[in-house]
Amino acid sequence: MHKRLLILTTTCLLAAGALPTIAAADNGAELHAANCTSCHDDAVYKRKDRRVTSMDGLKKQVQRCELSLGLKWFDEDVDDVVAYLNSTYYKFK
Ligand code: HEC
Repeated sequence: MHKRLLILTTTCLLAAGALPTIAAADNGAELHAANCTSCHDDAVYKRKDRRVTSMDGLKKQVQRCELSLGLKWFDEDVDDVVAYLNSTYYKFK
């Protein structure tokens, strides 16, 4: 009885441990797809007169949109989305 519980717990821990490794790379893309496309699509990141002109500005804008949605993301989540938007659209150095 106890042994079975232990095996079950161990299996769950292993599964949970493996997850962040897989999820990390796509976290930004997934968060963005799930939360950030209801008001604007990716056209706002590509338009000629886009407002964000620096890495700093990008982070501020992501935080602004995230806060106004009341999402309560961790700093890491903001960073992941910033990294995703930068590597896909903005390409700041
Ligand atoms: C409640 C509606 C809304 C949602 C949802 C939203 N945004 Fe925005 N976002 C805006 C508005 C409004 C602007 C400004 C558009 C403009 O200036 O025409 C904007 C602009 C931006 C810009 C700047 C684009 C530029 O001009 O360079 C970025 C980056 C951005 N949003 C990221 C995000 C991210 C990341 C999320 C998900 C957390 C998100 N947005 C979700 C309303 C929203």
